[in-house]
Amino acid sequence: MKCMMIGDIFGRPGRRAVRECLAGLVSEHGVDFVVANAENAAAGFGLTEDIAQDLFSNGVDLLTGGNHSWDKRQGHDLLDNNERVLRPHNYPASNPGSGIAVVPCDGVKVAVLNLQGRVFMPLTHCPFATADRLLESIQDEADVILVDFHGEATSEKLAMGWHLDGRVSALVGTHTHVPTADARVFPGGMAYVTDLGMTGPHESIIGVKIEQSLSRFLHGRSDTRFEPASGDVRLQGVVIDIDETSGKARDIVRVEGCVQ
Ligand SMILES: [Fe+2]
Repeated sequence: MKCMMIGDIFGRPGRRAVRECLAGLVSEHGVDFVVANAENAAAGFGLTEDIAQDLFSNGVDLLTGGNHSWDKRQGHDLLDNNERVLRPHNYPASNPGSGIAVVPCDGVKVAVLNLQGRVFMPLTHCPFATADRLLESIQDEADVILVDFHGEATSEKLAMGWHLDGRVSALVGTHTHVPTADARVFPGGMAYVTDLGMTGPHESIIGVKIEQSLSRFLHGRSDTRFEPASGDVRLQGVVIDIDETSGKARDIVRVEGCVQ
């Protein structure tokens, strides 16, 4: 089967990229299942019910999250009520939602795990131990296992890759919004890329208007508003070819769509 994983959808421009580019990429690559990180889909901060429905109706099958999953209060209910909306599982269990789902796709049981790194990120439980526990909990329940590891540090994402190779079909990194050129299949059959990139405005500083983000670096203050930029809107992600009988990946390729 072919699974597409889409880099962080940023604000209205990112949602537009999904609307205008996803269907074409899905048919071009014969994609069966689409996962997208949507923690920045609501103006850069969080996710709402309406936005989730818009993304689902435009071809996304499951949404993952990250440190911004909590930014919109109404998004908390969504995390509790929709099993296809995930947040990193290694946040304390007192929070709404979950970081694991097993959903059917044309007779194949697809598991998606969402975890968050701890290097330069909010304090959470250990993502490595959490991954081990989650994989044990779905033993024999899933044919294909996809992991969104939301983190800042390339070293931590690679470490998780080597930790999970042979046990999952694919591990992709999200959060930094800058695509990395290291997509490959690990020796144990796990497709890997350190960062998917961003589905949103690329004439920006990771999605935010250049002058607003630059101002924080120039003046060292955090009282500037952050709003989504609007130029050079692209969808970025990967398509992973997976043998659903073994759960091993055959290939991973980068895909990109540009809004005209
Ligand atoms: Fe993030």
